[in-house]
Amino acid sequence: MAVICGKLFYKGEIITAGIEIEDGIVKRIDKKLEGEQIDGLILPAGIDVHVHFRDFEENRKETINSGSLSALFGGICLVVDQPNTNPIVDGADEYKRRMDKAMKESYVDYRLNVALTNRNSDSLIETLKEIEKDYFVPAIGEVFIHHTNPDLQIPYDTLSMIRKSTSKLITVHAEDPALIDEDSTQAEIKSVERCLELGNFHFCHISTYDSAIKISDSESTFEVTPHHLFLSYDDLQNLGSFIRVNPPLRSRVEAEMLFNGLQLADIIASDHAPHTLEDKKDGKPGFPGVETMYPLLIYLMKKGVIGVRTIVKLISSNPARIFGFERYGEIEIGNYANFAVFDLKSVTKIRADKLHTLAEWTPFENFDAIFPRRVYIRGELAIEDGEVKIDPGLHKHEERSGTE
Ligand code: DOR
Ligand code: ZN
Repeated sequence: MAVICGKLFYKGEIITAGIEIEDGIVKRIDKKLEGEQIDGLILPAGIDVHVHFRDFEENRKETINSGSLSALFGGICLVVDQPNTNPIVDGADEYKRRMDKAMKESYVDYRLNVALTNRNSDSLIETLKEIEKDYFVPAIGEVFIHHTNPDLQIPYDTLSMIRKSTSKLITVHAEDPALIDEDSTQAEIKSVERCLELGNFHFCHISTYDSAIKISDSESTFEVTPHHLFLSYDDLQNLGSFIRVNPPLRSRVEAEMLFNGLQLADIIASDHAPHTLEDKKDGKPGFPGVETMYPLLIYLMKKGVIGVRTIVKLISSNPARIFGFERYGEIEIGNYANFAVFDLKSVTKIRADKLHTLAEWTPFENFDAIFPRRVYIRGELAIEDGEVKIDPGLHKHEERSGTE
């Protein structure tokens, strides 16, 4: 049993109190508790529901090990990995193979979506049932309405059929293939409209204010990324082919509108999509971002641009609620003791060579940020002042406190 004391976010307020932790779980929160005094603000560690940790045949781009280390340094305690790997995770064997790997190699808690492809659409519901005997599957996704790999580009009819056959969360990358070359903004908006006619979804990385309004008028939910909020096509012309990401960066005006409509969003997620420098030169779409997301937000909190409640809601409590991660989301009695501690005085510039992803670059180079001084995962001090204190391997976390 341990007690840490300091300023913490509890039930929507910043209070000064102690947190008693036993077997990785918060047992008590009380002003009277005495224990180790922690400098800085203790917030729930983040959940990133959209990362591409590659690995398998693409381990030069990222691995579960490197991606999860990057997550940890960014104050993230749980990731949802996407199955558009090589090979694609669209069957029970690949799913198990990847989860086994994460069990040995991940630094943070790890969950994996299952892919919908044109090969598995007839058997996916059965496959899902089989996988769910052994694992908690967060969602079917990310389902691509447009993709350069024809196996991954899913027709609306198939999406509709799957939507009707399960109540499972489905996450959709909505870009309409018919419009993508002509008008990529409309490609997103029209695709969102079509999907909303088919049922309820969770929309990945929404990049336009119009889509945000449409989704928020429905039962569906959506994510935004830091890059669509804080970067724009207008500002990053100098990036050349590195600017490519799907959906693309929008104009400065559109990004500002999306940011001003942040109260409409349910989740902030990075869409961490690392590539090698060579691949970026060749125009491969995707930005790394799992390590910089929470630090960028905390800096903006210090500047008074975003409130702490909004940040915690978008990065922790809503992801846990929408994806069904029990014992995550809030600093609360009975939940895992997953915390990120930020010293608001230690503002640093983001530098690619200080990050832990294999990507070797960041679109946020030179941006101000506040990285966590400490991260606790299930009560264990996992990093402190830039130093890793734990070995990778999920079983270690889970042995301590079990899984949902
Ligand atoms: O830019 C992107 N890259 N968008 C996606 O949706 C997929 C991702 C990737 O896997 O590279
Ligand atoms: Zn995507």
